[in-house]
Amino acid sequence: MSKPIIETVSVADQQDHGAVFPLAYALQTKQSTLSDMHEWIQSRRDQLLEQLAQHGAILFRGFPIKDAEDFDSVIRTFRLDSFTYQESLSNAVRVNRTELVFTANEAPPEVSIFLHHEMAQTPLFPSRLFFCCETAPESDGETPICRSDVLLDRLQEREPDFVAACENLGVRYSNVMPAQDDPESGQGRSWKSTLDAADTAEAEMRLDKLGYAYEWLPDNTLRVTTPVLPAIRTLVGGRRVFFNQLIAAFRGWQDVRNDPRKSICFGDDSEIPTDSMNVAIELADELSFNLAWQDGDVALIDNYLVMHGRRPFKGKRRVLASLVADDGSRLAA
Ligand code: FE2
Repeated sequence: MSKPIIETVSVADQQDHGAVFPLAYALQTKQSTLSDMHEWIQSRRDQLLEQLAQHGAILFRGFPIKDAEDFDSVIRTFRLDSFTYQESLSNAVRVNRTELVFTANEAPPEVSIFLHHEMAQTPLFPSRLFFCCETAPESDGETPICRSDVLLDRLQEREPDFVAACENLGVRYSNVMPAQDDPESGQGRSWKSTLDAADTAEAEMRLDKLGYAYEWLPDNTLRVTTPVLPAIRTLVGGRRVFFNQLIAAFRGWQDVRNDPRKSICFGDDSEIPTDSMNVAIELADELSFNLAWQDGDVALIDNYLVMHGRRPFKGKRRVLASLVADDGSRLAA
């Protein structure tokens, strides 16, 4: 059989990102098999990872990927260590589909998931993310993606005092976790699951070890506050990124237990100015590219360079995800 023809295609109206965003490859030949795709990736694996570090996101379109098992096999060809959902402190409810693959946030269709770096509100986060569209929604449901280094540059011009405070003080995040998983909320993961704890004593032990403050509330819910975390980080090569969870927490950590106004503060417990947050949100929305999914699409995202979210949708939407552990190649010390 002839080799698959895979070409770069343009999916985005380019703004001033310094590199095509996202970079997109599309399969042009009809007869190609999944093992042709494995071979194609294997033969340029290092080049693809270099491109990812430069562009921030790569879309693979038209590949013969039908389900979680196919997606799992594609992930494995990149030979990257996985970051498991069990070890994470993510507050999203998810369902595992294979060893490496789980459903993206299970929050209801009408809920917006605002721009965020995966798990940047915790001390443990993945370096890269794979997404795969198993079933595209009837309408809407795009994944907005936004370059965090470009955002920081713009924010520096508009809100230099805010950027300096982020840099100098760091940030703390607070949220209230339910006793049982609550699939109605984007922050509905129970404290037992989040902390991998069978009881309150085990939960407290884990939180003490991670340097969290906490308080038990009525109905066996748990309010936790993180230690001070950096709000700006530097990548290998010198690019600075707005790597934090401020936008998602400020806009979206809202459910029957959580009030977004109480979700973030600077590291010295002072208030984060609403006006500055509104500017950050406005700039991030301007810079976002809306990835409109097609069945079989795979996207590889550099979690340190790019934020992602989820727009509300109609109909069924199945987007799968897989997380890659930090291999020490991206974050400067
Ligand atoms: Fe996410």
